[in-house]
Amino acid sequence: MQFLVKNGDIEKQRTACLIIGVYEENKLYPAAKSLNANSRRYIQSLLKTGDLKVALGQTLLIHKPIELNCERLLLVSCGKDKSLSEADYRKLVTATASALKTTAAKDALCCLTELPVKERDIAWKAQQATQAMGNLQYSFDQLKSDKKKDIPSLKKLTYLTANQTEAKQAKQGVDEGIAINAGINEAKDLSNLPGNVCTPTYLAKRARALGKKYPAIKTSVLEEKAMEKLGMGALLSVSRGSRQPAKLIVMEYEGQGCPSAARGRKPGAADGSNKNKKKQKPVVLVGKGLTFDAGGISIKPSAGMDEMKYDMCGAASVFGALIAAAELKLPINIVGIVPSSENLPDGDANKPGDVVTSMAGHTIEILNTDAEGRLILCDALTYSKKFDPDVVVDVATLTGACIVALGHHTSAVLGNDNLLIQSLLDAGETSADRAWQLPMGDEYQEQLKSNFADLANIGGPGAGSITAACFLSRFTEDYRWAHLDIAGTAWKSGAAKGATGRPVPLLVQYLINKAKNAR
Ligand code: BES
Ligand code: MN
Ligand code: ZN
Repeated sequence: MQFLVKNGDIEKQRTACLIIGVYEENKLYPAAKSLNANSRRYIQSLLKTGDLKVALGQTLLIHKPIELNCERLLLVSCGKDKSLSEADYRKLVTATASALKTTAAKDALCCLTELPVKERDIAWKAQQATQAMGNLQYSFDQLKSDKKKDIPSLKKLTYLTANQTEAKQAKQGVDEGIAINAGINEAKDLSNLPGNVCTPTYLAKRARALGKKYPAIKTSVLEEKAMEKLGMGALLSVSRGSRQPAKLIVMEYEGQGCPSAARGRKPGAADGSNKNKKKQKPVVLVGKGLTFDAGGISIKPSAGMDEMKYDMCGAASVFGALIAAAELKLPINIVGIVPSSENLPDGDANKPGDVVTSMAGHTIEILNTDAEGRLILCDALTYSKKFDPDVVVDVATLTGACIVALGHHTSAVLGNDNLLIQSLLDAGETSADRAWQLPMGDEYQEQLKSNFADLANIGGPGAGSITAACFLSRFTEDYRWAHLDIAGTAWKSGAAKGATGRPVPLLVQYLINKAKNAR
């Protein structure tokens, strides 16, 4: 689907579906007002019928509106006349996207970016609307025989703005929205694929394909032999119980010197090129890539176990974030690292009580083989040092306890650097992909004591998400680090079972903000 921005008079536009937001009491915002004035008060006459409910997000579709140029008119209720909250705006654009889906319109003209949202500019509004459209257009039917059912008719959405300045700002938001959509779709596709298709080898193949598609991305894959040489005993102990070989996937995105670095600068101005410039330290993103987690010998209950194909959603979000960064040509360096394995019961699998040695040299007593994510992550986190990172952010469906703490709406963030954590929290707020900080501290570290090794891989019944992060923190002392636990947010269960693509929006917003500051 194509997204465009245009500025001009609303009366002159031809479209298959004109979308305008309206308020109670006939109060109209500029586009609707002007349209109304030029159509013998047609919009007001429609509102007077009372067919459009006042509640925010209600829609009314009019076919062949007699006074207008367009084939359809979609009125979207903005509720009572007041400035909208961010949540209001998202509700409104989501409702618009669903209403559009019920029509056969191939193109639409959207005036919703003119609605006032507290503390948000037109770029934000365009970004959010573009994301809402992308979200509703997504379907995963590649494994079904009948693939045609869900193809949306809409092929082009144009945002109408009042002037050039607004158009330029909106365009920036649209570009970001498109890139985030591409990242979300990649993350959703990888996550929704079943464990027998999406194996560690499949992820590695996909990473190589990204390296081919985007010249700025360089992919390399470490096989088990190489990991053995590096002493990754924790990671390899997990994959020993599986017939699928583990992979350590590394995707290096070099955006420093990308054309967009020169955006807003005069051509030839300093910077924007790699010459004479010290290599920027990268943001390292580490994603948990358990393509299936049965728990190992500490096996999980059968009910709902299919959902453990989603135990690679952290990895998928790293793929997604890199794609978005490459699409936006963000002028920063990013390294995506994905340790990938299965966790299955087997004659050669980890057993409770086993002690393994990590790449960092710490010995780990595996008291529960189902706490495998931290075992593969700890070696990947140690490996991250090699890239001399500015910051490291790991993303993982790490603990069921995170769902107990925060449910399915909010991801958890923990780490050793409060500035980094704050930037991630802010990015989550802006992108409607919220995270919430959980505490860490020595009292929790105590819970990881082992009688037989340097540390245990579980910390007892209380504060499971925190002790999991504490475990990781033992391997991240040399750099600024944060951990996102996305166990509750990465996918939905029940009738709407499917990946959400989270936290791609948060990660990309963080990277966009970082790139802005780097300029
Ligand atoms: N992948 C799971 C965590 C998980 C469970 C995510 C359910 C989403 C939904 C992880 O590998 C795991 O099994 N964690 C254990 C840790 C425990 C043994 C300390 C858990 O949360 O039960
Ligand atoms: Mn597990
Ligand atoms: Zn797991």
